Amino acid sequence: MSYWTWDDSLSVGIDVIDGQHRRIVDYINELDAARASRDQDKITEILMGLVDYTRTHFAFEEDMMQQAGYPLSASHKRVHDAFTAHIDKYAAQHDAGQDVSRKLASELQIWLTNHIKNDDRDYAPYASKVLSQSWLKRTLGRFFG
Ligand SMILES: [Fe+2]
Ligand SMILES: [Fe+2]
Repeated sequence: MSYWTWDDSLSVGIDVIDGQHRRIVDYINELDAARASRDQDKITEILMGLVDYTRTHFAFEEDMMQQAGYPLSASHKRVHDAFTAHIDKYAAQHDAGQDVSRKLASELQIWLTNHIKNDDRDYAPYASKVLSQSWLKRTLGRFFG
């Protein structure tokens, strides 16, 4: 059974963003499974992937918000920055040998649910202005390529 199951209440109505959020949910489920199996190497690998993917997702959203002229881009970015610093702290604690995976998974679930339903959903009407196929291809390539 997975730790966290995606459902439509988390959708912001933009496929590319929903896909990225789903990937983060998958990472959290993978982290929980690795924690249960006590496989330290696996936990490290997933944790690093999760931190890296989350940063890339934030950067993608920030670029999209800015290009769409979303008026709250700067404050949304500050929220991302603060949370990135918070996750980095957990990664450092993990590197120092502490078992942080459960706490990280639970905090990430709470934070992400709240952030998606409020902050991310708020930019959605603006984002649709820049979401052409060519923009998507170019921008996804730049961040995830
Ligand atoms: Fe997001
Ligand atoms: Fe966001």
